[in-house]
Order: sequence, then C-alpha cells, then structure tokens
Amino acid sequence: MEIVHTPVLLEETLQVLAPRQPEELMIDTTVGEGGHSYAFLSRFPDLRLIGIDADPEIQEVAKQRLKVFGERVHWYTGWSHDFFADPSYEKPDTILIDLGVSRYHYEKGARGFSFLRDEVLDMRIDRTQGLAAAELIAGLSEKALADLLYTYGEERYARRIARSITEAKARGRISRSGALADIVVRAVPSSRYRESIHPATRTFQALRIAVNGELTRLQELLERAIRVLKPGGRVGVITFHSLEDRIVKHFFREKGTDYTGTQEQPIYEYKERGSRSVKVLYRKGITPGEAEIRNNPSSRSARLRIVEKVVDKDVCLQYKEMR
Ligand SMILES: C[S@@+](CC[C@H](N)C(=O)[O-])C[C@H]1O[C@@H](n2cnc3c(N)ncnc32)[C@H](O)[C@@H]1O
Repeated sequence: MEIVHTPVLLEETLQVLAPRQPEELMIDTTVGEGGHSYAFLSRFPDLRLIGIDADPEIQEVAKQRLKVFGERVHWYTGWSHDFFADPSYEKPDTILIDLGVSRYHYEKGARGFSFLRDEVLDMRIDRTQGLAAAELIAGLSEKALADLLYTYGEERYARRIARSITEAKARGRISRSGALADIVVRAVPSSRYRESIHPATRTFQALRIAVNGELTRLQELLERAIRVLKPGGRVGVITFHSLEDRIVKHFFREKGTDYTGTQEQPIYEYKERGSRSVKVLYRKGITPGEAEIRNNPSSRSARLRIVEKVVDKDVCLQYKEMR
C-alpha cells in the first residue's frame, strides 16, 4: 500500500488533541489516507477512533492502514456533518477536521483536481452526488462563472478567465482538466507567470470548493461538532486558505466576551446564545515551522485552530432548573 499524503501540523495536533482521560473517543472527520489517525492511535494506546470520509476510495486506503488497531477503529462513509446529525452516536472527547482534499486526490484521484494532469474534469469528493466540474462549467453564464472564480478563488483575473472559458465553451464542452488549465494559462497576463503559484491554481481551487460545497458544509460541520462534543472536549480544525480560515475564525470569535489566560497562551471565552461556551486556545492558531514547510511545501498555508467546549447546553438547562 503506497501512501502519498503527508499529514500537516502532525506533532502540534498530537499535542493539543492528546487524550486527557482513559479510553477517550476521537472523531477524525476527514480521515483521508489516515495519516493523523495512525499517529494518534500509535501514540495513545487506549484511544478509540471513528474515521469519516465522504470519499470511499481514499477511506479504503485508511481502512487497510489502520487494520492493525482492530476494534479500536470504526468507520463512517459520508459527509461529517451528516454523521453528527445522528444523535445515537457516543459523544466524542476530541474532533479533528483537516479540511480540503488529500495529495492522494491530486496524484491518484483521476478526477481532474490537478491542473498539472490531463484527467476527466470531475472534482467531486463524493462521486455519487452533485454536479461534476465539467457540468458546472457547462451550465454557468459568463457572469456567474466570473463571480464563482472571484468568490471562491479570490482570483484577480476572474472576468478575463470567465470570458475565455465561455468562448471555449462555444467551440465545445470542456471536459478535461488539461484543456481547462490551458485556457486559464492563456487568459491571464504574462505577469501572472512570475507569481509563486501556477496561473490556474485559483481557478481550480474555486471550482473544487463550489463542486463540493466546501464552505457551506464547513459552517454546518462546526455547528454540529461543537454541539456533540463532550464538555471539556476539544475540536482542532486545520485550514488551508484564507476563505476557510476566515469562516473558522469568525465562527469561534464573533460572540467573543471575556479574556483570560496569559500573554503566551491567551484564552478567549465565548458564549453562544447563552447555551454553549467554548474557549479559543491560541488566539492566532498554530502554523507550521520552517522545517515542516521545507519538508512539505504544501503545508505552508496551513493553520490549526483549537477550541475547547466548556459548558454543554444540557448542563446550562439543569443549572437554570436548579435556580
Ligand atoms: C486533507 S485530507 C485529510 C488527510 C488526513 N488527515 C491524513 O493525514 O491522511 C481531507 C480528507 O477529508 C475528506 N473530506 C473533506 N471534507 C469532508 C467532509 N466535510 N466530510 C467528510 N470528508 C471530507 C476528503 O475526501 C479528504 O480525504
């Protein structure tokens, strides 16, 4: 079994989400090839884990890899926010959310995630539902496409790219990632080639986010993760671009009230509708060090944000009743 993905911020995640009680339950909501899960199960011998992924293909790799841990591991195939909607599951002590797609998807997914490969332009994580990228592009007007590239890719040349894609569509369906990458490369000004990222990076990111409804799902996932977490439990979220990170940051901060903690490790306390409260640990989150970025350049934009649940809704209700 060949593993291609290197888990990011691994040591930091192991430290902040380390179990604090015996036989804790961890939910890896984005198990991928199981890199983080494998490290947690190896380091903490009585930890139990549920591994979730919306892509059954990559989850199969994790299943093979984590077989050695036997009954300590259980599986759910599907979107994580759907898993959390089922109240019959045991409440977890820790939840890990490592967003986006895996290197596996770029290198072995054969679904057009990479602008460096010529593959079918699909980009769906779960291939059983929703529109593939080629269908999405085919159905969008030039304006809608430009808005999509601007909103989800923060693409400065969104209008130029949308115009070129629309002209190309008039000559025939764009069904391969190679063809799309060529169109984008020709559409952007040559100054773009001097930037550190490939000219098609933002277009491909925007389409992937749109195809998989990533930002809408994220909001839902955070809501539900906090709701199901045990009091005292922690959620760690690893984001890879500013759009994701902004959602996570605002989700935890917008209801900010008190400040406690030290200068080095400030703790902000938040109350949500008076029913739940979470502490945000590490105000700016944790980013990779130089050595990690050198060894794994795709980690450079990663940021780990961690929150701890301090009060559960039920506890609040009981407290009110007591008074
Ligand atoms: C960045 S990779 C995780 C890598 C993993 N931590 C590792 O070390 O191997 C994210 C994985 O989560 C899956 N995924 C992304 N969003 C998801 C969601 N909302 N629900 C379920 N799976 C998701 C993707 O299919 C992908 O396999």
